[in-house]
Amino acid sequence: MRYSMPGFNKALVAAALSAVLLSLLSSQAQEPVPEIRISESTGLPIVYPYHGMLLNHDLTVIQPTAENIAAVLTAFNTSLEETLTDTSKTRFSPIKADARQAFAGNPEGQLLAEASLTYWLIDNGSSQQQRSYYSVFKAVEAWAGLAPISSSRIRFSKLPAVTTELQGMGLDQFFAETPAAANYIETCRQSRVPIPPDWGSSQWILQGTLDGNYTFAGDPTNITQVFAYSDPNVPGACLALPRRDKDTNEIGLLGIICQSAETGKACFWDNIDKTTGQRLSGAAGEKFAITSIQDGSNVAENCTNCHRGYNVFLIHPGTALEVSDPFITDPAARYEPISGQPTWGNPAPLLNAGNAPCALCHEIPTFGGNNNTLPPFDSAFCKILEGVVDKTMPSIAKPAGWKTPAPKFAPHVNMFREICEGVAVAGGGSGG
Ligand code: HEC
Ligand code: HEC
Repeated sequence: MRYSMPGFNKALVAAALSAVLLSLLSSQAQEPVPEIRISESTGLPIVYPYHGMLLNHDLTVIQPTAENIAAVLTAFNTSLEETLTDTSKTRFSPIKADARQAFAGNPEGQLLAEASLTYWLIDNGSSQQQRSYYSVFKAVEAWAGLAPISSSRIRFSKLPAVTTELQGMGLDQFFAETPAAANYIETCRQSRVPIPPDWGSSQWILQGTLDGNYTFAGDPTNITQVFAYSDPNVPGACLALPRRDKDTNEIGLLGIICQSAETGKACFWDNIDKTTGQRLSGAAGEKFAITSIQDGSNVAENCTNCHRGYNVFLIHPGTALEVSDPFITDPAARYEPISGQPTWGNPAPLLNAGNAPCALCHEIPTFGGNNNTLPPFDSAFCKILEGVVDKTMPSIAKPAGWKTPAPKFAPHVNMFREICEGVAVAGGGSGG
C-alpha cells in the first residue's frame, strides 16, 4: 500500500474527511484522490468494482492507497449517515466516536473501524436495497484489502460500543465471510461446464493482448492478456483475463469464466486465495490450483452486474476476445450463472434478440445491478453500453453514438440513455 499526500481538488471530499482519517496521510507527493461523486438518484457514492479495481463515475481507476481508501469509506459513511432517521442519528453518534477513538494511531485499524461503521449504517438505514448495498460494499472492502482482516473478530473486540450494538442486532454474524461452496466445481461439472485447468498449465492458450482502446476501463500501468481453454469432451469455452504490470510483468488481477455450450451455465473464478483472502500475485500468481481461489459462490465482486445477456461473455468484436473454433461462446440455451449468492443472476433481457435496430443481432440485457435489485441509473452495465455505443456497436467503422446517436439507432439508444439517466422507466419511451 502506498501512503501519499492527496491533492484534494474537490472540496466535497476534503470537507468530508474527518480529522482522524487525515492523520493517515503522510507527506510524499502523489496523484490526487480521484473525485468520488455522490449519485443524485441513490444518494450513495458512484463506484464500480471491475476486475478487482474500483472505478469512479468517469471510470477513472481509484488506486487502493490509504488516502483513496479513506476517501471512499468516508464518502460511503457521510452519504449513508444522511439517510438515517433522527433517532438512528442519535444512536450513531457515540458509536462513531468510539469506533474512531479505538484505533487512534493505527491507520489500518482506522480504516477497519470506518468499514464497520459502514455496515452499521447500511443496516440501520431506511433503504429497501440493503442487501444490494452490502454486496456493493463487500466488493469495496475486497478492493481495499480489508476483507481478510474483517473476517476475524479483531474489529469487534477493539470496538466496545460497536460490538455491543452489532451483537445486539446479530450483525456480527453477517460479517462472517460467505464460505465458498464446498462443491462449486462439482456443481459446474454436473452442469456440463468445462472446468478450467490450474493456472500456469500449458492447456491455457494465449490469444493475444487486449486492445486498450476497447477495454471498459484501462489502468495505464497494466496490460491485459486473453487466454482460452477448451475441453474436447465438454463443449464451451473458458476465458481468462490476466492483467500484468507493465514494469514488472507480474499478474495483479486475473478473472476466469467458463460456459457450457450445451446448458448455458457459467462458472466464475478470481485469483483471490480462498483461505487468506489475498490476491495471488508475484510468483504465487503464475501457478496455482483452481480449487485454491475464490469462485462464483463467494467472490465479493458481482461478476453478473456486467456479465449478462444471452451468453456470459462480453466480447468486443475485432479484439483478442473474439475467439473461434474450438472455443464456443454462444450456448444452445440462454446463460445462467452458477453462484448461490442472492445478488447474482442474469435477469430477463430488456430487448429480445431480433428487435431492430439495436437488438437485431443479439438481445440487450437489462441494466439494473445486483440481479436488478439496484436501479438502472449509475449501473455498471449502463457504463458498458455507453462505451460500446460510442466505439464498437454496431460496428467499429460506424458506431451509433451515445449522446447524439445516428438516426437509425436513435430510438433504442435514446431509450437506453433515458433509462440510464433515470429519466424514463424500463421499457419506456423513445424520445430524445
Ligand atoms: C464493471 C463490469 C464488470 C464486472 C463487474 C466484471 N467484468 Fe469481466 N469483463 C467486463 C468487460 C467490459 C469485459 C470485456 C473486456 C474489457 O473491456 O475489460 C470483461 C471481460 C472478462 C473476461 C474475458 C472474457 C469476456 O467475457 O470478454 C473474463 C474472464 C472476465 N471478464 C472475468 C470476470 C470475473 C470473474 C468477474 C467477477 C469477479 C468479472 N469479470 C466482473 C466487465 C466486467
Ligand atoms: C450487426 C450486428 C450487431 C448490431 C446491429 C449490434 N451489435 Fe452489439 N454485438 C455484436 C457482436 C457480433 C458482438 C460480440 C459477440 C458476442 O458478444 O457474443 C456484440 C456485442 C455487444 C455487446 C457486449 C460486448 C461489448 O463490446 O461489451 C454489447 C453491450 C452490445 N453488443 C451492444 C449493442 C448495442 C447497444 C447495439 C445498438 C447500438 C448493438 N450492440 C448493435 C453485433 C451487433
